[in-house]
Amino acid sequence: MSDHFKVKMQSIDNYDNRPKAQNPLKIQDLTLRDGHQSLFATRGRTEDMIPVAEMMDEIGFWGVEVWGGATFDTMHRFLNEDPWQRLRTLKRYFKKTPFSMLLRGQNIVGYRNYADDVARAFVEKAAENGMDIFRTFDALNDFRNFETVVAAIKDCGKHFQGCICYSLTEPRMGGEVYNLDYYLNKAKDLEKMQADSICIKDMAGLMAPYDAFELIKALKESTNIPIHLHSHFTSGMAPMTHLKAVEAGVDIIDTCMTSYAYRTSHPAVEPLVMSLIGTNRDTGFDIKKLADINAVLEKEVLPKYKHLLDDSKVSIIDINVLLHQTPGGMLSNLVNQLREMDALDRINEVYAELPRVRKDLGQIPLVTPTSQIVGTQTVNNVLFDDDDEEYKMITAQVKDLCYGLYGKTAVPINSKLQKKALKGYERGSKPITCRPGEVLEPELEKARKELKGLTSDLEDIILYTLYPVTGKKFLMYKYGKETPPDSLKPRTLEDVKKEDEIIAKAKAGKLVEKSSKEAPPKGEHSRTFNVFIEDEYFEVSVDEPGGQPFISYAHPAVPHPAAAIPPQPQAFSAPRLAAAPAPQPAPAAAPKPPAPKPAPSAKAPASKPAVSAPDGTPLKAPMPGMIVSYSKQVGDSVEKGEPVVILEAMKMENALPAPVSGTIKAINYKSGDSVSKNDVLCIIG
Ligand code: CO
Repeated sequence: MSDHFKVKMQSIDNYDNRPKAQNPLKIQDLTLRDGHQSLFATRGRTEDMIPVAEMMDEIGFWGVEVWGGATFDTMHRFLNEDPWQRLRTLKRYFKKTPFSMLLRGQNIVGYRNYADDVARAFVEKAAENGMDIFRTFDALNDFRNFETVVAAIKDCGKHFQGCICYSLTEPRMGGEVYNLDYYLNKAKDLEKMQADSICIKDMAGLMAPYDAFELIKALKESTNIPIHLHSHFTSGMAPMTHLKAVEAGVDIIDTCMTSYAYRTSHPAVEPLVMSLIGTNRDTGFDIKKLADINAVLEKEVLPKYKHLLDDSKVSIIDINVLLHQTPGGMLSNLVNQLREMDALDRINEVYAELPRVRKDLGQIPLVTPTSQIVGTQTVNNVLFDDDDEEYKMITAQVKDLCYGLYGKTAVPINSKLQKKALKGYERGSKPITCRPGEVLEPELEKARKELKGLTSDLEDIILYTLYPVTGKKFLMYKYGKETPPDSLKPRTLEDVKKEDEIIAKAKAGKLVEKSSKEAPPKGEHSRTFNVFIEDEYFEVSVDEPGGQPFISYAHPAVPHPAAAIPPQPQAFSAPRLAAAPAPQPAPAAAPKPPAPKPAPSAKAPASKPAVSAPDGTPLKAPMPGMIVSYSKQVGDSVEKGEPVVILEAMKMENALPAPVSGTIKAINYKSGDSVSKNDVLCIIG
């Protein structure tokens, strides 16, 4: 038996009266945060945590992670729940077990670096509401982004857990960047910052068991601070990695309850508890109590969420993580993005380009938000670059990264790319080298003013600062200014039962098929009627066959006498995009407005505004996304290459340049509108 093997057997005769281990392994449970974030898109509701809360409090977990990461975003956006309230509610049930949260350093719980006043206020409010352990990470492992939050955590007398994001550039730990020394040096930096514990955060499940052994052992030899391991199951290695980490003396390990474990989540707690029974690392947990919790989750909670589980594959291991080292969440983003752009067949080019983009961007770890930044830029390169030009469409976030706004990268950014990205960049073309927080103006006062009349509560103000658009919407619901849509309401077990009955009927062949006659497209002027038949209610849309004659045209965003487009029907008779120099076939480009009646073959556009075609060159959406803003108005002149529209796609912003020089003739959308690929965003003539 090797010297390092520290797990020793003890003899026990039963589970209940087993002797306490000399060095029990501590466990943090992630079910209520990373568990449902990994498996169910963070859709878990507070009401579904309460049934197990008191039972979980009895287990003896070192901590329960209940907040942070995506919960703050998802709760207010999709669940119409106040994230702050969840803390207060759960705290009533968890009386003994400390609360833990995932804090993205100066990114707080968002996707960019926020100003120091926001970071400090967030930590203070979280502590006030019951947060005990602040697991803090930075996507670049630039610990200067910890400074503000750590000072606040310490001032509140709370536990500061410093994370090192685990990253690789080759199949195993090592190489020029992410080698053993890198992690040991990072741990030393955290020790200097007075970390109460150190977490190795293996967000993609890349850590191989023997690397874990080497790393944990070296860390245990070089520091006295407790070492915590967070390893996702994604690649399938994590249970083995956990065991090797235990052998190397790891202090704390993250797991989930069985029903929230595996796939892109974490290994389950129960097998680990059983594996360690009878050793000096025995957790001491009552396996029967764990089983009771799972029974509640299985019966009362999970049926409401199983529709969110990705059941497209039977396999629970993601082979691509092993092959391409692409974190699970990032991979599904890339696939979605390519699918939306009808370019899924180019995924292999994306895999090939990704390491190159990552290297150009300073070999940064791939974790939120850097995984999105690298992933989206890679897709842009594959789809838009040509032989003449690389990095043709650089996202705003890549520009921010090149400026230094996210912090210091692991190796310097490719200087050619950096120069190109910062040409005309709003903050300046010379990158900063200081802590990013130093160049960010305070944000809370401005937000307070913007919310005047609605709320003056600091928790609301912080929420709005982190998520201005969706946060505002949530606050309108919260204060009764708007009625939340039904889609934000929880699913009940009744709903699930009804659906299951329909599925059972369908499987038994008892479901009546609907008419196979193809429905014509719904006209823009169809009218909706509420129809009540006894207790039942139907919504019926009535549409005149052939469609009513109507005139539809795109309003210029700002009325401009010279460019206002009169609603002349002849504008539609022949799309005149053929005159445009852009190399696309004439009629297919813009959504064609329907011809006036009677034209039975004309297909009316479903819901999009019909787009007029004044003379000029269209600027088309190169990808589906949401309009953030137009930097030009109708009537303004533009130079070829000058940015005209900011389009958000996959959380990244793209400045779309003018294809030609000229005058803006028409602007077809406004901020907040969703657009499809090839929609005409504006016309330059
Ligand atoms: Co995680």
